[in-house]
Amino acid sequence: MSVEKKTPVAVLISGTGSNLQALIDAEAGRSYQVTLVISNRPNTIGIAKASQQNIPTLVIDHSLYKTREEFDSEVIKAIEAANITTVILAGFMRILTMEFTRHFLGRMLNIHPSLLPKYPGLNTHQKALENQDSEHGLSIHFVTAELDGGPVIQQASFPIQACDSVDSLKKTVQKLEHQCYPDVVDWLVTDKLKLKNNQAFFNQQPLLKPLQFC
Ligand code: GRF
Repeated sequence: MSVEKKTPVAVLISGTGSNLQALIDAEAGRSYQVTLVISNRPNTIGIAKASQQNIPTLVIDHSLYKTREEFDSEVIKAIEAANITTVILAGFMRILTMEFTRHFLGRMLNIHPSLLPKYPGLNTHQKALENQDSEHGLSIHFVTAELDGGPVIQQASFPIQACDSVDSLKKTVQKLEHQCYPDVVDWLVTDKLKLKNNQAFFNQQPLLKPLQFC
């Protein structure tokens, strides 16, 4: 697939960027291209990695903005200036304003380390262990105004073993995340995936339950 035909996407990160790297590594044969990486934190590993690969990067340090609205509007401006309409959140640790989520509604995905609707927010691995869950996993969802609450598109799950720890769960989840996210981003940019009236559609059929990765 020629570069010209690929859809440019912006990836928003706050840290390591292992999902960002998985998306970049999987570009060949897919219809998206990461053409901008934005971090809300300076000196992240993710930004360093993207720069090394000659991908345009921007640090928009949230701590320099008085309000969430000002920060979000700066991020919107940067994405628009790069002529990008698709936004992929990959470990972006900021709550977005309604203005931001409205702006990219149906064009923005997030990956979350739990089987939503279980455990929105932080410390998902810890919560799964504390609750003695029998399984754990990840969810990829459309981003709406509700934190980690948009329609779920795909999940991947695995059984929790007696010997599992927060670290081991994190490792297993991330390995699966790297396998799942590129395809879902590809579905979005090729219009296989749509959001209408807060309902996800896959191949024009409403997704009555999340697709299962296996
Ligand atoms: C991932 O586990 C993702 O589920 C969560 O944040 C983590 C980001 O990791 N939203 P990385 O920066 O992609 O390595």
